[in-house]
Amino acid sequence: MLPRRSYYIPFENCDEALKCKDRNNQIRFNSLNGNWSFRYFNSLDEVELEYKDELFNNINVPSVWQMEGYDYNQYTNVKYPIPFNPPFVPKDNPCGLYIKEFNLENFCDKRDYHLNFEGVDSCFYIWINDYFVGYSQISHSISEFDITKYLSSGINVIKVLVLKWCDGTYFEDQDKFRMSGIFRDVYILERANQRINDYSIKTNVDLVKNIGYIYIDILDTKNKPDIKYYLFNDNNDMILSGNIIDDKIMLKIEDVQLWNPEDPKLYTLLMETKAEVIKEKIGVRVINIEDKVLKINSIPVKLKGVNHHDSHPKKGYVMSREDMLLDLKLMKESNINSIRTAHYPKSPIFYELCDEYGFLVMSEADIETHGVVELYGLGYLENYNMIADDPIYEKVIIDRIESSIIPFKNRPSIFMWSLGNESGYGYNFEKGLKCARKLDPTRLLHYEGAYYADKNRKNDFTELDVISRMYPSIDEIQEYFDKGIDKPLILCEYAHAMGNGPGGLKEYDDLIQANEEFAGAYVWEWCDHSIYNGSNKDGKSIYAYGGDFGEYPNDGNFCVDGLVYPDRRKHIGLLEYQNINRPIRVIEIDTVNNKVKLKNMLDFRDVNDIVQITYKLFSDGDMICKKEIKLDTLKPKEEKWYDLSIQDLPKTIVTILFEYTVKLDILLYKKGFVLGYDQIIWPNNIEKLKSFKQLINIDEKEKFKINYIDNIENNIQITNGDFKYIYDKRIGMFTLIEKGNKKFINHPLNFTIWRPPTDNDRKIKNDWIEAGFDKLDVRVNEVTIEEDINSLAIISRLSLTPIYRQKVLDILVEWRIFSNGLINCRIKAYKKLDKPFLPRFGVEIKLDKSYEDLSYFGLGPYENYQDKHYSSYLGRFDSKVSEMHEDYIRPQENGSRSCCKELCIKNDNSKIYVLSENKDFSFNASHFSKEELTDKTHNYELEESNATFLIIDYKQSGIGSNSCGPVLEEKYQLNESEIDFSFYLKFSENNNN
Ligand code: GAL
Ligand code: MG
Repeated sequence: MLPRRSYYIPFENCDEALKCKDRNNQIRFNSLNGNWSFRYFNSLDEVELEYKDELFNNINVPSVWQMEGYDYNQYTNVKYPIPFNPPFVPKDNPCGLYIKEFNLENFCDKRDYHLNFEGVDSCFYIWINDYFVGYSQISHSISEFDITKYLSSGINVIKVLVLKWCDGTYFEDQDKFRMSGIFRDVYILERANQRINDYSIKTNVDLVKNIGYIYIDILDTKNKPDIKYYLFNDNNDMILSGNIIDDKIMLKIEDVQLWNPEDPKLYTLLMETKAEVIKEKIGVRVINIEDKVLKINSIPVKLKGVNHHDSHPKKGYVMSREDMLLDLKLMKESNINSIRTAHYPKSPIFYELCDEYGFLVMSEADIETHGVVELYGLGYLENYNMIADDPIYEKVIIDRIESSIIPFKNRPSIFMWSLGNESGYGYNFEKGLKCARKLDPTRLLHYEGAYYADKNRKNDFTELDVISRMYPSIDEIQEYFDKGIDKPLILCEYAHAMGNGPGGLKEYDDLIQANEEFAGAYVWEWCDHSIYNGSNKDGKSIYAYGGDFGEYPNDGNFCVDGLVYPDRRKHIGLLEYQNINRPIRVIEIDTVNNKVKLKNMLDFRDVNDIVQITYKLFSDGDMICKKEIKLDTLKPKEEKWYDLSIQDLPKTIVTILFEYTVKLDILLYKKGFVLGYDQIIWPNNIEKLKSFKQLINIDEKEKFKINYIDNIENNIQITNGDFKYIYDKRIGMFTLIEKGNKKFINHPLNFTIWRPPTDNDRKIKNDWIEAGFDKLDVRVNEVTIEEDINSLAIISRLSLTPIYRQKVLDILVEWRIFSNGLINCRIKAYKKLDKPFLPRFGVEIKLDKSYEDLSYFGLGPYENYQDKHYSSYLGRFDSKVSEMHEDYIRPQENGSRSCCKELCIKNDNSKIYVLSENKDFSFNASHFSKEELTDKTHNYELEESNATFLIIDYKQSGIGSNSCGPVLEEKYQLNESEIDFSFYLKFSENNNN
């Protein structure tokens, strides 16, 4: 293997270097991607290296063989997939033999030919024309071999034998599907005989004088080339040129244009030797920490981050440039400015895209030894440092750190190196940190594993630039600031985005904004890593996760924990994160003078460069006007008052929605895209919708006495004009509501506290089941009837108690029927058990499936909960029951709308209204029953029932991120000892009035 070097692809000449944008078109680049012959062996013992036509199939490179029909898929998180017996691996080690013929056009024997692999899992042996060339490992690293002496003009044959496991497997225990093969590009570079091999580029800035410095160091050459350089600015004007003498030069740029993630200005450097040109994109910037604050170009920066794995539903680890670009575009749209390359380095193209489009990258080494915590009898966390602190592994760790830094040391987007993930701490990491610092003193160093250092050991943390944590609670973070910290704080993982979630983002953001030393946080994680596995009988995609391949061990759906679905559709959680990170915010309102104070949340850029603000005024949810705010200029972090042109506000619920829209196509933004919004509810003390009065209005002539017959088969039968109601005294609920011949309801209503557990309920779910929340029995103790002039009230005392467990709720419920058919339900519920908190409390109504259209006044248009509603705002929304379903890959509670005042659900001839007088309600409307959503494990298995389930909730508990993060914050737990809930039900014909 050749010594590691900076990544670059040489050009033939300056002209090509300036024009060519795609390395595939570079003359000196010979791709070996594409069709190879492939043979799979179950065991290394079975390998035959000879090519036999009938035993080989075609395979596309890059790929992982599990996605091409060989071997099987396995998803494991912490547990090692193989017996723990380092450095040995199983004898039956699956292998893939790859063979390809290639012809190097213009083969020239004065040149050197370097074969490059950008990623092979887990290790591989190479032969060219049956000469053994070499071996390499570290899956996510670039390996380069000089194959010149093995080549001949004309057809050559390359053979690569890839092994599934190797000793490196013990260091690559990242939480992912375990896949194998040549999963990144393979190519041969034609190199001039006299050339630069390696160089480093560092930059510095004199911010006072606005001068940039570029330091070029030529680190390794062959045959002492003369080197010329040319430097071009962002407009492609050449601004400097000359010779690099003695392998070193400093370039000084007056009036420098700096790189930052919001305005990633790049210079282009060409380094020309006799028969080769190397091109580098340079971002001039400096990274530092001043007074515990993370800064880029001396400006404090907040990291709005996400952890990104390489994952594709059909290709596994393989990501093309287009795939990466799509992810980056979606991230830009979501106001994400930083990426942690969890948990290994990316392909070079990824970093180049981040340089160009502006992302701050925390680039992580390919190291994770998490599996040691699962060893028998050694104590979970106590054994964490077993590899980290054993000097026998020093070389391995250092090698992996070097392989992550050396190739990418010139990438401006990388602001911090991370030494790996979840591998404990000790001697090897202390050495590794020193080594990383030496390799690159210009960037910051991160390693979260330091948190698990043995408290009885004398640990050296001096080279760590930040305190990093994963998944701490709000209180834990607050403690850091209360006690005082000596370094900036970063959450390298938080807000576990598994299934319906994450909730509680706002609280984290509040802390990030409030504390200068809090540099920011990275959501775990970007994408659901499910595998596309064909489609079901209805043509719905089947997405598989751990266990679906019968593998042992597996970690189920823990890999389905992203902000986007496998096919990159956005989860609501991503929309939530997007709006939490909106680039501009309303931070104060002045209702006397009709003004708002706006703050630019960007770190580097005048928000007026990018965003245009419109505001829409709504009265009871209907838009009355739309206007614009002219920003002119709003500098980073600047706050300013702006006038709103609003007069004579109606006496209704007035809301103003501020929309932050992209002004022009720049970076990956598209003009017109809404980057975020704020809503203010004008404080005019009006809580009731105008429509409420109209809907519950009881006409004088409609006032009459209501007839009822008590005690027919335990029922109360009420007749009232052309209405008929049946109330079942054994359950304290209606079983029929009918008008004329129209049956609005003909199934019993019921109280419910259950929600299909979300992934974030996976722990509390056990308590819920233990407490019997999933199988409550109703016991009615007393039913009384009260008659009034124009109404009749049925008052029941009842309780909900599971079999063999104690009572959960005592309920006092009054159903008051008015002469015009209206029903008012008033509930008092008293929680008997201290623990656990309730998933929800509501009344479920099973309707005919024809109830499909709905409109509501509440938080929308997206699913929302107490602690997950920042992508929604208060308004009037029309939707359909089938569109309310958010199709998480593992079915769970979804689609709730909270803070509602009015709901109308209708079919062709009837409408049912749910109305609140002063206390808002939440609701779910779905064609899937709670049981279906609870029991099914994959979305493609879900079967719609022949009904529409409407649940009117007093509340649901919040969502949180307890699938991996802290327990749901108390304030979001539905744990009130006394619940006071009321709503109206109105039944009317749907004649479109
Ligand atoms: C973290 C880990 C991630 C992932 C996550 C759970 O502890 O660093 O790789 O496993 O938990 O989804
Ligand atoms: Mg792990």
